Amino acid sequence: MSATPVLIDCDPGHDDAIALVMAHRSPDIDLLGVTTVCGNATLDRTTTNARRIMEFIGATDTPIAEGCREPLARPLVLGTADGPSGLDGTPDLPEASMALDERHAVDFIADTLASASEPITLVPTGPLTNIALFLLKYPHLKDRIGRIVLMGGAFYRRSEYITPTEFNIFCDPEAANIVVNSGVDVTMVGLDVTMHVLVEEPQFAELGKIDTPLGKVVLDWLAFYEKLHRGIMGVGGALHDPLALAVVIDPSLIETRPAHIAIDLTGSHMFGATVADFWNERGEGTNVTIATSVDSDRFFDLLYGLLRDERGV
Ligand code: RIB
Ligand code: CA
Repeated sequence: MSATPVLIDCDPGHDDAIALVMAHRSPDIDLLGVTTVCGNATLDRTTTNARRIMEFIGATDTPIAEGCREPLARPLVLGTADGPSGLDGTPDLPEASMALDERHAVDFIADTLASASEPITLVPTGPLTNIALFLLKYPHLKDRIGRIVLMGGAFYRRSEYITPTEFNIFCDPEAANIVVNSGVDVTMVGLDVTMHVLVEEPQFAELGKIDTPLGKVVLDWLAFYEKLHRGIMGVGGALHDPLALAVVIDPSLIETRPAHIAIDLTGSHMFGATVADFWNERGEGTNVTIATSVDSDRFFDLLYGLLRDERGV
């Protein structure tokens, strides 16, 4: 099967970083470009981190274009899971020297879609500001999108770990509202499944066997990320964004169901929440596909295999 052409829009971010590594190293992904957005850290930092990551893994031929500095309609609320730099705890990652594409992310996405010979899969792993702005500025190019597989949302089975609001949606709910109602084929990989792909002792044991420079940096990333997660929620580090990317590589990793998602843009307590209607009670049909379960063991087997692959660092 030929590789899937993909654009990743991200806010690295420790878990975004691992998604980028997987995309670059997977023979099933043709990573056409990376665009950056504010979220886990300021845009300057997420862009610098994207450059550092892509350069370190040898992906200097993959263009990086910088996107939106603020959400569409509200002040930026930064994420808290990656430290002030957005990629704290990585002493062995060299500083960035790789140049940026001179286009804005939205224009880069448009040019890439317009020149592609086949539909492209967009994989947003941060707030959806760039994607929404692309849809607003280039509506005639919407049909060049094959599908969107995004990390975002939380839909049911509330628990102390599955909160009503998930950060990527909460950070820019107006943008998310545009994307889920765009008519594009959207799959949402939300906390309902990503909170089941946690890095804990067994995963650290497997990752520790990967004796390469990349393996060492990934361990550094996850050591910081897991410690911060455990301090906040008492569980390991959830590989949110890597799972969204993995779904493009192997769709059988998850089970899904169609639903209509409404996003709370005004609520005092549920602001930014993704409210799912699975039974068409609102009479609005369906607008997205939701991931409902994940085969965690097969996900981690895929991750380990891509990190062990000798093709990269
Ligand atoms: O809620 C998890 C999401 O928020 C992930 O994309 C993580 O990187 C943060 O951006
Ligand atoms: Ca992210």
